[in-house]
Amino acid sequence: MTDNGLSLDYRVHAGSDTGPVLLLLHGTGGTPDDLVGLGRQLFGDAPMLAPAGPVSEFGAARWFRRLAEGVFDTDDVVERAHQLADFVAAATERHGLVGRPLIAIGFSNGANIAAATLLLRPEVLQTAVLFSSMLPVPQPPAHDLSATKVFLANGTADPMAPIASTDQLVSELQQRGADVGTYRHPGGHQITVDALAAARDWAKELVAA
Ligand code: MLT
Repeated sequence: MTDNGLSLDYRVHAGSDTGPVLLLLHGTGGTPDDLVGLGRQLFGDAPMLAPAGPVSEFGAARWFRRLAEGVFDTDDVVERAHQLADFVAAATERHGLVGRPLIAIGFSNGANIAAATLLLRPEVLQTAVLFSSMLPVPQPPAHDLSATKVFLANGTADPMAPIASTDQLVSELQQRGADVGTYRHPGGHQITVDALAAARDWAKELVAA
């Protein structure tokens, strides 16, 4: 438990009274402030919940433990995805945001915990924009994800989120009925200008639908 009475430290950014609420999930070593500008670029003045990763890797905040780069402690991924989902339920209640569409925006380790939450807790999270993500759990449960919408942008030369693992994530989502949009760029572990433009197009369509 943190000082705020919820299971994660977080910042909340006020926004419009209607429309989606954003859940910002930073990468390894990041902070709740990292993705605020990205959130504004994608979804304008939506209110934002920006928690801090609860796991410390030599002082760098993360969302779950890993045994080596790209080798995840799967039990911890599952536990932490549930922690995040429970946090979201409590924080949306506290801030009067219950019932509004929730959209996660994640980069790298933050995108991976978002992907785990989409796969494990679809009643809490159904929509996400994922940059540099990979499959976070080897055999996800067979939940019905027909209401799930995900956009994934990845670099085909990303050494940290190998494209084969991203392909597996896309396939696991699609097998469960999710609507998946993908964008590939020739770069590495980064958010490129063109990936951001593709994400903005996807976000515009999502909001207009
Ligand atoms: C992870 O651990 O989630 C990925 O390897 C990305 C990262 O380095 O954070």
